[in-house]
Amino acid sequence: MLGAPGAGKGTQADILAGEMSLPHIASGNLLREAVEKKTELGLLAQSYMERGELVPDELIIKMILQRIALPDCASGGVLDGFPRTLAQAEALDKGLGDKGKSIDKAVYLKLSRKELLKRLSGRWLCRNCQTPYHLITAPPRVAGKCDKCGGELYQREDDKEETIKERLKIFFAQTVPIIDYYRRQDKLIEVNGNQGIAEVARELMTSLRGKAK
Ligand code: AP5
Repeated sequence: MLGAPGAGKGTQADILAGEMSLPHIASGNLLREAVEKKTELGLLAQSYMERGELVPDELIIKMILQRIALPDCASGGVLDGFPRTLAQAEALDKGLGDKGKSIDKAVYLKLSRKELLKRLSGRWLCRNCQTPYHLITAPPRVAGKCDKCGGELYQREDDKEETIKERLKIFFAQTVPIIDYYRRQDKLIEVNGNQGIAEVARELMTSLRGKAK
């Protein structure tokens, strides 16, 4: 799942993973868990994340390759937020290729900058299961509590205006090139993210079915 910060990658990856009974593997969630638990990876990653910069490729590649080697990914998974650089995309192809596997499709959620800023400034997340909510477009049933697990909702440190600007800058400089990487492989599906959550999910499923092998 490719897209700028706030494009709805987490929201759509969660829906897609549920529909397909596959695990949802979100690099940002794995990193935030590592930071919370103060693991070696978390301590190394924390300062990059707080500045809105990308965590070094070698750390994130190792983390994802270890995660997708776990038994629950034997039939596949929905990757969210990884890869984000060409080096990551190539390492992922190599890691999967070594196991006789490959990426089926890369979904790019396209969205205007204005909408991205609106989404990030109203976002709240579950501290326990990381489900995203939005004050206006996707509020929880009970204020401050997660619909799925009852966990406490919080706002991310990197959802401050200055950090959001840095994350957007990095997306256009470092992640946009991998959109072309998947386009050249004829694996890219572009979805209009400027729609409601259900409409985006519908367009995404229709495109995936249309392009299924
Ligand atoms: P990460 O957690 O991946 O953040 P991100 O890419 O900046 O994306 P977001 O989580 O902000 O947004 P999203 O697209 O998932 O949108 P969401 O569904 O929440 O990464 C954080 C940091 O970790 C990075 O800055 C970096 O430091 C590090 N990192 C992670 N991966 C890395 C990698 N591969 N390499 C190096 N470093 C890495 O939706 C946003 C809001 O909008 C929510 O409130 C939601 O409810 C709402 N919403 C969603 N869809 C809609 C809709 N259709 N209509 C209305 N509202 C909607």
